[in-house]
Amino acid sequence: MSDVLLSVDHFTKRFGGVTAVNDCSFSVESGSITALIGPNGSGKTTLFNMITGYLKADSGSITFNGETITRPRPADLYRKGLSRTFQQARIFPELTVIENLVVAAGYSWKGLFGKRVSLDDEVRAQKMLHEFRLESLAQLPSGELSYGQRKLLEFAAVLMSEPSLVLLDEPTAGVNPVMIDTMERHIRERNAAGVTFLIVEHDMQLVMRLCNPVVVLDQGSPIAFGAPATIQTDPLVLEAYLGS
Ligand SMILES: Nc1ncnc2c1ncn2[C@@H]1O[C@H](COP(=O)(O)OP(=O)(O)O)[C@@H](O)[C@H]1O
Ligand SMILES: [Mg+2]
Repeated sequence: MSDVLLSVDHFTKRFGGVTAVNDCSFSVESGSITALIGPNGSGKTTLFNMITGYLKADSGSITFNGETITRPRPADLYRKGLSRTFQQARIFPELTVIENLVVAAGYSWKGLFGKRVSLDDEVRAQKMLHEFRLESLAQLPSGELSYGQRKLLEFAAVLMSEPSLVLLDEPTAGVNPVMIDTMERHIRERNAAGVTFLIVEHDMQLVMRLCNPVVVLDQGSPIAFGAPATIQTDPLVLEAYLGS
């Protein structure tokens, strides 16, 4: 039996005369690494922003973990176990690498009980540093990291909230091949540990080997949904990409 963790129901968003997302519905199964792909301007980032509460939808809702939410708010979702990264990594550049991780822990569900930085958060931050092999950079201001290292740190920081669902917006865009492998490995490891992913990604080779199913967006609506091999030969998908 399929177990839906997130469903997006009839999301629509217009910017003036542009309908960026158009009556969009799909679902993400618990335990999956689901890809969201589509030509430039097809509405992927807008959709991510609506799901995670950074942008108000004109209409539609999400259902996360069985709870229907018509007005998602980032902090609430974070506490409920849904967190995300951004196309341009958002970290605190003036804080050190380890400080970024400790701060991120403060936003976890434990934050509900007014808990500030605790020994437990510090220990978890150290473990995360180790898992991501960032120990040697621990005391460096994060603003001094390379582009790829920032993306890795943002991913690690997001995991500090112990999310059940992580949305990644172009995790490998602009990063070098070694860092792509590193990112892929971490996604796989965390997925094996039970974390569900929804990933916007342009690297089709990565999508094909990492993700299943794949949702294809065109002009703000899903035009195909299924296994990567099926998607690859879908005439509607080929037309959407060639026509763009
Ligand atoms: N803040 C905005 N104001 C006006 N138009 C926007 C805005 N954000 C996105 N759009 C438009 O909405 C469409 C979808 O954009 P976007 O979600 O960024 O696509 P993708 O991430 O798939 O490249 C595009 O036509 C884009 O120009
Ligand atoms: Mg985008």
